Amino acid sequence: RPSLSDARRRYLLRQRDLGGPEVYLSRAPGSGPAPAPPAAAAPPVPPAASAPAQPAEALPEPARSGAWREGAPPVPGPGIEIVTPAPGLLDAAPDYASLEAVADAVRGCEQCVLCGHRTHAVPGEGPAGARLMCVGEGPGETEDRTGRPFVGRAGDLLTDILAAIDLPREQVFIANVVKCRPPQNRKPLPDEVAACLGYLRAQIRLVRPTVLLALGATAAEGLLGVRQSLGSLRGRVHRFDGIPLIVTYHPAALLRNPNWKKPTWDDVRIARQLLDA
Ligand code: URA
Ligand code: URA
Repeated sequence: RPSLSDARRRYLLRQRDLGGPEVYLSRAPGSGPAPAPPAAAAPPVPPAASAPAQPAEALPEPARSGAWREGAPPVPGPGIEIVTPAPGLLDAAPDYASLEAVADAVRGCEQCVLCGHRTHAVPGEGPAGARLMCVGEGPGETEDRTGRPFVGRAGDLLTDILAAIDLPREQVFIANVVKCRPPQNRKPLPDEVAACLGYLRAQIRLVRPTVLLALGATAAEGLLGVRQSLGSLRGRVHRFDGIPLIVTYHPAALLRNPNWKKPTWDDVRIARQLLDA
């Protein structure tokens, strides 16, 4: 069980990763060098914003349930609608009996060149009854080594983002567009995506989540079949075979560009509201 100060430290790091006031971190006694400020000041995230600057040890308890609702944007209007069944979509997805059967097929898959590079295939994980399904691009180094999705640094951030909307990661289905790591973490090529997409569609068909969350442009492109900027796909509720689909930045992109943290926080709170709608 983590100590209280571990929990506080984690809360502070999450606030920073979500674009919260970094002043808390830089003012914590003995916390070492201050983290670099964001390139542009993002509006602070409540409830931390309302707390006066004070030493880390005096901060409020983390993760007050429902706190994400404060300042959450309204659910936006409709966007791209992918209607299925349609040729090449869900009806053409292989009809697996279970998520485990999909995972077995993925682990034995040799349908594109990526299989020759993998240590482990990364089918995805989560409960069959998950209400939220997150879709990323493809496994990175840590994922390839462990066979599990989103377990590296970007994965830790995703876990924190989900916790911040009161969704323990264990309740969410987490998958990727491609199930094997592209060499040097390059973007998967169109033929690799095409070869792999059937597995993701089979997973969506089996889980039938209430909401889909596409993380980054590759996931959005794979699911919606359109090539548009991430910014132009945000802020609308798309539909994938009737399932509301929200597009947001990839957590790895957030680690590189802190300006995207605030919009991501807005997007995931929209997705969270749709879960209850
Ligand atoms: N990035 C992704 O897109 N997927 C993972 O599983 C890990 C990192
Ligand atoms: N561009 C991308 O491809 N992904 C992001 O998450 C942000 C910008």
